[in-house]
Amino acid sequence: MTAEPAAKTLVLSSDHAAIGLRQAIAAHVSAQGWQVEDIGPTTPESTPYPQHGAAAARRVASGEVRFGIILCGTGQGIMMAANKVPGIRCGVCAEPFSARMIRQHNDANMLSIGARVVGEALAFEIVDAFLSAEFEGGRHATRVDMIKALED
Ligand code: RB5
Repeated sequence: MTAEPAAKTLVLSSDHAAIGLRQAIAAHVSAQGWQVEDIGPTTPESTPYPQHGAAAARRVASGEVRFGIILCGTGQGIMMAANKVPGIRCGVCAEPFSARMIRQHNDANMLSIGARVVGEALAFEIVDAFLSAEFEGGRHATRVDMIKALED
């Protein structure tokens, strides 16, 4: 991280498989006061998830936004790409419990969702769980530091 990001800022990105759900999430979180940077895509042509995952991850890693939410068909491929960017801790979640836990225990700064896995209402619950949870620190900080050390 090169800067301290504004508290309620997030970046959204997806591949072609998740444009509708991504836009629905953008509206959902904007209504909660989040400042959303939706970096697309907006047209339905097939487009490779690694470039969209990496683009969102770089925004988070730069410190210009606090969190990233990314989507593809399963959420898996775009998560793998995001996690290649130093400083990123991204998990795929298909239910709210894991979304809360990756914040509380893993200090995740990105969330990935599969648009072919969960419907809109469940996706909103997952997003809300992620964005409302806080990192607990303590013994979890030691473990997160071990993850960070793997980048050295
Ligand atoms: C695109 O068809 C699909 O492979 C992609 O959205 C994602 O599920 C990959 O992990």
